[in-house]
Amino acid sequence: MVSAATGVDRLQLTGLIESPPSEEMGDLALPCFHLARVYKKSPAAIAAELAGKMTATEFVERVQANGPYLNFFLRREKIAAEIIREVRAGGDNYGKSDIGLGKTVVIDYSSPNIAKPFGIGHLRSTVIGAALKRIFLFQGYNVVGINHLGDWGTQFGKVILAYKLWGDDGILQENPIEHLYDLYVRIHQEEEKDPSLTHKAREEFRKLEGADSENFALWKRFSDLSKREFDKIYAMLRVQFEATAGESFYNDKNARVEKLLHDKGLLRESREATIVDLEKFGLQPMLVKRSDDATLYATRDLAAAIYRNETYKFHKMLYVVGVAQSLHFQQLFKVLELLGCSWAKDCHHVSFGWVKLGDEMMSTRKGNIVFLEDVISKAVKLAREIIGKGRPDLPDPEGTARAVGIGAVVFTDLAFRRETDISFDWDRMLDFGGNSGPYLQYTHARICSVVRKYARAVSEKFDSSLLILPEEYAIIKKLGNFHEIIDKAAEEFEPFHISSYLLELCGLFNAYYQRYKSPDDRIISADAGKAESRIALIDSIRYVLHSGLTILGLTAPEIM
Ligand code: ARG
Repeated sequence: MVSAATGVDRLQLTGLIESPPSEEMGDLALPCFHLARVYKKSPAAIAAELAGKMTATEFVERVQANGPYLNFFLRREKIAAEIIREVRAGGDNYGKSDIGLGKTVVIDYSSPNIAKPFGIGHLRSTVIGAALKRIFLFQGYNVVGINHLGDWGTQFGKVILAYKLWGDDGILQENPIEHLYDLYVRIHQEEEKDPSLTHKAREEFRKLEGADSENFALWKRFSDLSKREFDKIYAMLRVQFEATAGESFYNDKNARVEKLLHDKGLLRESREATIVDLEKFGLQPMLVKRSDDATLYATRDLAAAIYRNETYKFHKMLYVVGVAQSLHFQQLFKVLELLGCSWAKDCHHVSFGWVKLGDEMMSTRKGNIVFLEDVISKAVKLAREIIGKGRPDLPDPEGTARAVGIGAVVFTDLAFRRETDISFDWDRMLDFGGNSGPYLQYTHARICSVVRKYARAVSEKFDSSLLILPEEYAIIKKLGNFHEIIDKAAEEFEPFHISSYLLELCGLFNAYYQRYKSPDDRIISADAGKAESRIALIDSIRYVLHSGLTILGLTAPEIM
């Protein structure tokens, strides 16, 4: 209506709307400074003039000028009815949109290296990438998740050589990653004593690149066994990929990249390698090929980007990779740009900070590596101890412990902005009262329990005028914001916005719940109308919480 009265674009006005600092100033405020400039009048004069023109509407009770602000007093019961109706009708679909319809987002995430343990950094990439994938799906995008496995490179020459020297087939079958990793560590140590091993390892890699059948068979075996181990982790986290195309997938595509670089005159020979000089752009050179002709990580990433653009015609491509690789992605995007790929601007390095481990976590370390499976088992074990305590009657203790343990680990990766370094601290991760995954899950289960106790259906015509408390209105406003939060998370590639939203929502619910501790005023009030409207409200929280947790990759048990 302000738009109609002023002729100023609606979207532009919406962007200006603020929440006033106090109740007496209404529910929404429009600062009139912008309009004052447009109409060359004082903001206060504009506010007064507009207030005079406004009449009540279905959702707005009255409008009042307050200095340079125009304050809106909403019909809260109408808004409550509308939002609760929308949430309940939408269920897990509430908050979805179709802004992404017909567009594809490619997300490169997880991408561990075969023959090596799945690291804690790969976990972070997996968790953030999978959350982003669900966020974009929620907005109607077509999403292609790609696991860019590190399954090629000179290090495999070392692993093959070490296996030929010291490997054991039985142990390999039994415990592939540990065995391969031991061999990898060992060859590095032995190399220091016997430098001829370095040369021999290069030779093995050259044979592998030349498709020598013995080396190829070994590589294939290492690769298959590693994938089998990684799949266990993906199953625990319930993560899937549309494509698992590792670095080796681009073996027959690198030559074309080199030719493109050559034709554009971008290649330079330097001492040990063929490079693209990026000095003009303040970047170190990108290494394309080594003097022994071995292709490199960067070359394969160029081939992958070009292939993905041709295959998926993406709207955006995200690389969810730790901050340690910032330079690599700057080089990659710059070289794509120099190759004339106009879509280079649609590629983003979604970087994230380091994961620090608590002292206790170090006990699961071997060499410098944490075995992720140990971390997850420990989280599940601790969760089992905590939830077992209060509830001997829990229907599925094992399933619940897994949900909570894994939820604790997953949420830790999403609880802060992704660029923030995080630390794994068991007490905090599993604190049912703190900012943790289990806290959100527990709040969800608590709501489920109240709704179960109510044991009646909530009619469409519940009386929303009974929801008059400021706490109730605060919850309703929050529920109404869910779309906005999803949009923001997608725009900034930040699942954290959803995490913090859910924490706030749970905080609002828990405060509300505390209010009804007294036996003569429960949420399920003796007054049937009040009970019904309160249940309609908290049931809406349950829906949004459930859907938010699902997007983040946590399961939400109904009983805990
Ligand atoms: N395998 C790499 C690593 O562990 C990550 C790969 C990320 N994706 C990419 N397209 N470069 O460091």
